[in-house]
Amino acid sequence: MGLWSRKSITNLMQESEGGGGPTLRRTLTGTNLVLLGIGAIIGAGIFVLTGSAAAQYAGPAIVISFTIAGLGCLFAGLCYAEFASMIPIAGSAYTYGYATLGEFIAWIIGWDLILEYLFAASTVAVGWAGYFTAFLSELGITLPAAFVGAPLSVEGTHTLVRSQICVDTATGGIAVDAVSHTPVAIADCVAGGFQIGHGILNIPAMLLIVALTTLLVVGIRESARFNNIIVVVKVAIVLLVIGFGIKYVNTANWTPFIPPNLGEFGQFGWSGVLRAAGVIFFAYIGFDAVSTAAQEAKNPQKDLPIGILGSLAICTVLYIAMALVMTGMAHYTELNVPHPVFVAIQKAGPALGWLGYLVNIGAIAGLASVVLVMLMGQPRIFYSMARDGLLPPVFGRVHAKYQTPWLSTIVTGSVAALIAGLFPIGLLGELVSIGTLLAFVIVSAGILVLRYRSPELVRPFRTPFVPVVPILSIIICGLMMYWLPADTWLRLIIWMAIGLLIYFLYGRRHSKLAHEK
Ligand code: ALA
Repeated sequence: MGLWSRKSITNLMQESEGGGGPTLRRTLTGTNLVLLGIGAIIGAGIFVLTGSAAAQYAGPAIVISFTIAGLGCLFAGLCYAEFASMIPIAGSAYTYGYATLGEFIAWIIGWDLILEYLFAASTVAVGWAGYFTAFLSELGITLPAAFVGAPLSVEGTHTLVRSQICVDTATGGIAVDAVSHTPVAIADCVAGGFQIGHGILNIPAMLLIVALTTLLVVGIRESARFNNIIVVVKVAIVLLVIGFGIKYVNTANWTPFIPPNLGEFGQFGWSGVLRAAGVIFFAYIGFDAVSTAAQEAKNPQKDLPIGILGSLAICTVLYIAMALVMTGMAHYTELNVPHPVFVAIQKAGPALGWLGYLVNIGAIAGLASVVLVMLMGQPRIFYSMARDGLLPPVFGRVHAKYQTPWLSTIVTGSVAALIAGLFPIGLLGELVSIGTLLAFVIVSAGILVLRYRSPELVRPFRTPFVPVVPILSIIICGLMMYWLPADTWLRLIIWMAIGLLIYFLYGRRHSKLAHEK
């Protein structure tokens, strides 16, 4: 069996039924899946990135950027939905790749998905810690700077959170606001270069990951329940911001809707709208995480498409409304801060003072559920890869009592906690986006291949307008990759090179498919 050999869908489905040992537990309903999707989607993107993307690239036309990124995700989501209904297996895009494009491409997707899930968990945990420490300090509790910051701090021009905050080495590495010079959480820092700072560990980010990992080991049902509660809180707060904020919109802030280009690609004008779409794509990441719960869904063939597309549709509408309200309440030039929703609300004056507190709670809750669902998705992909022999068998173990991939979950949580403790948010965010976009492109190509190669297969959900939808998905997601900064591409290439090395040293040699017959 060669590098390009594929697994038959019948085999995949049979293998998923177990093999004698404990199996994952089917407890999730359609509603659970939609809420898991929303849990993964609404987070740092809308609560943190929107402001800086509007202030630096698109102005009020950030609304158009949200629409473009949303369309790319809709097309990719339709492709995911077809695969998820046809091959409802925890490996998600990795397994779809195995069935359509062969083992080698499957490995590439599996390795690439680590960027989306594990790295996203760490990135958003760092963002969460920033909000959390700020919230505590408002209550009068100040944590020592050394234990809320990464030792590998950064300094320079921009990365994930493009704000005016930077590490001030003159104050011993404590992050300060470049305008007001007041200290802020180091996690909110922005930058391009790389430099040793004076944080020791980001303890809150690590503790969050440890707590959520424990919950995920104990049970998928318990985790889903916790997620449901958080999602209700965060969606309610987003709705409150839209509902109350709309009354304070000053339409003058929307003019000009697309600020004129400043002479360089990406600095306002239409090119700015496109660049902002690439940046805020991060806000949409997560709807595909629903597909990793395939083996825990009660009725996966029907409910996975509902979970994927339902969560995406709800969040797209919320995002566009939220972006309109934010850029209407505050002038876009004022939104270049790590907490733009709060700043927009403050513009309404004391009348909405109460909502400001709720926004912070919404962000803390929202970011936590993103971390939860990402930490849920990753071990399930590892689980599938281990079942295929591409990763060591420990990743494929299911706990006899809890019926979760517990060892894989613990390994994922430990690595994610270490990364969150040691690295700043900026270094990771764009890597998460490019990794996810690559998976979307490959999944969409997979739909084209499978429609051509196996048209007869039963497809409980069919992507409409094939080949138009998958091709549009490839084009829009490909362009969003292209609009990301060049150093992100370099990091992606290095990451993939490491993956190939591991594949040829371990995966290829242990692949079950390669050793069949
Ligand atoms: N979409 C997720 C967020 O914005 C990753 O935090």
